[in-house]
Amino acid sequence: MTLKELSDHVVAEFKKHYGREPRWIVAAPGRVNVIGEHTDYNDGFVLPMAIERYAIMAADLALFQSTNTVSIYDTQFKETATIDVGEHVTKGSPKWSNYMRGVFAGFQRRGEKIPALDVAFMSTVPLGGGLSSSAALEVCTGTLIEAATGKRIDPIEKALIAQTAEHEFAGVPCGIMDQFISSLGREGHLLLLDCRTRKTELVPMNDPAVALLIVNTNVKHELGSGEYAKRRAECEEAAKILGVASLRDVTPEQLEKAKSKMSDLVYRRARHVIGEIERTVHAAEGIRQSNWPTVGQFMYASHASLRDDYDVSCKELDAVVEIAEDIGFKGGVYGCRMTGGGFGGCCVALVKADAIEAITKTMLEEYNVKTGLEAIIFSSRPAAGATIIKG
Ligand code: GLA
Repeated sequence: MTLKELSDHVVAEFKKHYGREPRWIVAAPGRVNVIGEHTDYNDGFVLPMAIERYAIMAADLALFQSTNTVSIYDTQFKETATIDVGEHVTKGSPKWSNYMRGVFAGFQRRGEKIPALDVAFMSTVPLGGGLSSSAALEVCTGTLIEAATGKRIDPIEKALIAQTAEHEFAGVPCGIMDQFISSLGREGHLLLLDCRTRKTELVPMNDPAVALLIVNTNVKHELGSGEYAKRRAECEEAAKILGVASLRDVTPEQLEKAKSKMSDLVYRRARHVIGEIERTVHAAEGIRQSNWPTVGQFMYASHASLRDDYDVSCKELDAVVEIAEDIGFKGGVYGCRMTGGGFGGCCVALVKADAIEAITKTMLEEYNVKTGLEAIIFSSRPAAGATIIKG
């Protein structure tokens, strides 16, 4: 569904459910990370893009403000969550409402009063697919508050409120990448983000000869399960041994010199992060020059490192990358890698645009042969970040 179709759909659902027109429509996209994985919480670089999949909300002030309640009607699962915004918002049920609760709490902390609202909600970002469905929901919620209060805030601040919501209300100690790209994405561009300085550079990605394919393994990932937090702790341990604030400060040579001071596991974690930060900077340069074969090689190298050193891949993600390698350059694939936190979710492949159909067909068939599962494949152009569509 295009954003326009999605918006029409959620408006129709709002009208059906609440019996009147919505006053605001807001949306925020999911993302795919082209390269720079598990580098954000190490002060490194990331290179994500917003995708044409969105969390979207149609809303109006509740008829009775005295209820102090935000009602969110989930149009897909036909479920309504109610959140008491009369006092400081806390965790609650259903589980997905916590992403919104966390953002309400963040705005309250800034001194904002959240009005009572009626909301209809829908998301086309696959859940648990490594495409940041949670960041999309958080940033969408922040954008809704901006629309409803009439006060726009700095998109970086909105991203940081969303990140805090993820930490405190979803229990995932994530970095800043997902919320930043959902908030700051620009149509036709990737976002090169320096996670230390938070300096951003928009890297144009609009060569019609290439496309990014997103291959969903349909293996759900659970970042809350503890592996993500473990990786963070291992990186912190490496930095401590190396005597630096973060792995951003370490060169490959310095790591080699200190190898004997750390366990093999901690060494491999650090090797991934240090190598990945370099690859990201080089890949961004490759994209600026439309040097697609080079970008593709960095993507394959990134995957190998995530698989072998960082241990966050899984056999289904590896299967997709193997199939991509088999199709190869001749068949129109430049590169492929897992994207997002890992342990399932999606791969991203850089491909020749005119080979999309053939590649998709081969991938679907081969993936099924290798794993017995059905993948879902779609392409997306770089989309815009969060927007107030109406209001
Ligand atoms: C998840 C986190 C991000 C980032 C990636 C790995 O998506 O939310 O902050 O750490 O994993 O690159």
